[in-house]
Amino acid sequence: MTQLETKLTRTFDFAGKQLRHLIETYPDYFPMYTVNGKWKHSGEAWTNWCEGFLGGQLWLMHRVTGDARFAWREQAEHYSRLIEHRKTDRAVHDLGFLFWSTYRRWHDLTGDPAINQVVIQAGQTLALRFKEKGQYLRSFVSDESCFIDIMMNVGIIFYAALQTRDENLWRIANQHCLTTRKYLVRGDGSTSHEGIFDTTTGEFLRQTTHQGYRNDSSWARGLCWALYGFGTAYSFTRDARFLQTAEACANFYIEHTPAYGVPPNDWDQAQPQFPHESSAAAIAASGLWNLADLTGDPAHARLYRDYAIEIIDTLTEPDFCAVETPGWEGILKHGMYHQRKGLGVDESVMWGDYFFLEAVANILQESK
Ligand code: GLY
Repeated sequence: MTQLETKLTRTFDFAGKQLRHLIETYPDYFPMYTVNGKWKHSGEAWTNWCEGFLGGQLWLMHRVTGDARFAWREQAEHYSRLIEHRKTDRAVHDLGFLFWSTYRRWHDLTGDPAINQVVIQAGQTLALRFKEKGQYLRSFVSDESCFIDIMMNVGIIFYAALQTRDENLWRIANQHCLTTRKYLVRGDGSTSHEGIFDTTTGEFLRQTTHQGYRNDSSWARGLCWALYGFGTAYSFTRDARFLQTAEACANFYIEHTPAYGVPPNDWDQAQPQFPHESSAAAIAASGLWNLADLTGDPAHARLYRDYAIEIIDTLTEPDFCAVETPGWEGILKHGMYHQRKGLGVDESVMWGDYFFLEAVANILQESK
């Protein structure tokens, strides 16, 4: 076993311990971010978008470690079933986060049409957010708002369109990607968190942010959602514009982040109090790993793979992975949810743990 393989295997052992502790200590609880390293607290959610990441991690545990030592699959099915009712939730733009990480993994394993139907219905529900005036899927905030985050969710609409041969669903997903590319991705590959549209005319008005530093700055996680999400859009459509956008975001990330691979919450904030946003790094690692398979250019593929491994090599060290932090309940430390609101600042976050394990699982699978 190589040194990297040993590290990755140990990371999954540690993740297993943390996840067992979580589900045994707080049964049927869906955490979002820790407070002082503890998952259960009364801090606000802002919006309920994280309920798929626990089931998603349990499916990954089942895939990587099997069930000889713990019934991961039974738990993964249980935590997936607990969110099934969300397939008709019209209050959030996050149904991809909820169902791609859970029911899609379940369907990949079983081919069960009833499980597939849940994924399809979630995609159909998400498409109801489409604004014909402006040609975008509206965010949970308001009709006038389009978030970069939605690029991580739009894949489930492409999937539902393919499964049902619904051309209108396909049009909606495709148009949303084109609108996001046009107004939220900048010429240098950086991204805006939010675009505001005139709901009467559909005219694009301005770029804004909720979780970044300034309206014209680059919120790291948003860019990583775009990097990963445009790659997914390309994998469905083979539209070269989406690949080009994913690669522009990837290049921005690589050029602006320290060589060890972990960015701050926003690249434009000078000397931030907390220098790291580890969940952005985890998303970037997983997105870059996928992008290496999508780009047709071998030099780019090598760059993305090497950089993804560099990120994961950093995140699996005790500075980031909580393996040597007694009492800490998350897996990955130094994540950031919403700094302005003071939510999940320098803590573990569920999506950080999920995309970290996804990247580790994918790299481990290939190294075997
Ligand atoms: N709402 C998604 C995020 O915080 O990245």
